[in-house]
Amino acid sequence: MTARTSDIEKAAGVLHAGGLVALPTETVYGLGANAEDPTAVARIFQVKGRPPSHPLIVHIGAAEHLDDWVQDVPATARLLAEHFWPGPLTLVLGRGPRVPLEATGGLETVAVRVPDHPVALALLSAFGGGVTAPSANRFGSVSPTTADHVRAELGDAVDFVLDGGPCEVGVESTIVDATGEIPSILRPGGVTREDLEAVLGCPLSVPSTSRVRVPGQHPSHYAPRARVVLVEPEKVVAEAELAQELGHRVGVFLPASIADAPVKAHAVVAVPGSPAAYARGLYGFLRELDQRGCDLIVASLPVEEGLGLAIANRLRRAAGPRPSETRSG
Ligand code: TXA
Ligand code: MG
Repeated sequence: MTARTSDIEKAAGVLHAGGLVALPTETVYGLGANAEDPTAVARIFQVKGRPPSHPLIVHIGAAEHLDDWVQDVPATARLLAEHFWPGPLTLVLGRGPRVPLEATGGLETVAVRVPDHPVALALLSAFGGGVTAPSANRFGSVSPTTADHVRAELGDAVDFVLDGGPCEVGVESTIVDATGEIPSILRPGGVTREDLEAVLGCPLSVPSTSRVRVPGQHPSHYAPRARVVLVEPEKVVAEAELAQELGHRVGVFLPASIADAPVKAHAVVAVPGSPAAYARGLYGFLRELDQRGCDLIVASLPVEEGLGLAIANRLRRAAGPRPSETRSG
């Protein structure tokens, strides 16, 4: 979908005036502000309910603008930018003087990416500067992949919602720490580890949180209202039916390998067999099960290769302990 030119101009005007614009990207919708306006940036944190120490991503219109925003760029970072931008890859690099500390949570590094969405690129071009934007959801909850998700969750707190249709990728960008000569993955996402390794010609490390098997070791994020329980694929049906018998309103993510299995539950989502379709649908499925009144979601992890790595990371974090369970005092 392409937004009307008048909408793009209006959105650019809102950014210039210090307002907040929800904008589509290929991954998820972002809650954008002028990256160089500390007051506007501070409003993002307020609206999201996000701690000010959590840094944001600066969205720029083209790889050629990278040096306007960062400094000390290693050759490997340039190689990655050349290959994957525009696209779902975020590079963490040295903070340039144009980026206020408000946007980086006080860090001397900054996360930057060029989104691969015609509406986002049109907005960045009309605006002319950088747009700092986290996902356009309340802190800790599920990221929005349609303009309706944004309106439902943030409503009037956003000055303008730019509708660019449903997001193609569906999970957030891959974040790579590119400050050193050997990059590392901070968050798996839309660009796969395999694609990055093919370009770099070396293996990349992935954060241990995405490998932890036991749910409950990391605080929840990307979480629906319903509790999420992860089990082996062959145990999904039995686990769901047991919980349903115990009085839960159970939503099931039925793995593609057992797509035809009958299951007695409150709501069933058939997980797409293709990882790209699963990633695209993931957050919508979680929202749908919330909307249908489920209090428990039973799911299993996909194979952790390709986009499956990002999907598994989000499911683990959705299944992690909620803030009320992790705080001791
Ligand atoms: O696909 C995406 O990345 C979406 C769209 C809107 O671009 N944005 C997104 O933003 O997911 P957010 O704020 O929800 O997640 C940004 C992540 C945070 O986990 C933050 O910790 C990390 O980026 N980050 C930002 N700056 C960083 C820095 N200087 N060092 C390390 N991590 C950083
Ligand atoms: Mg987010």
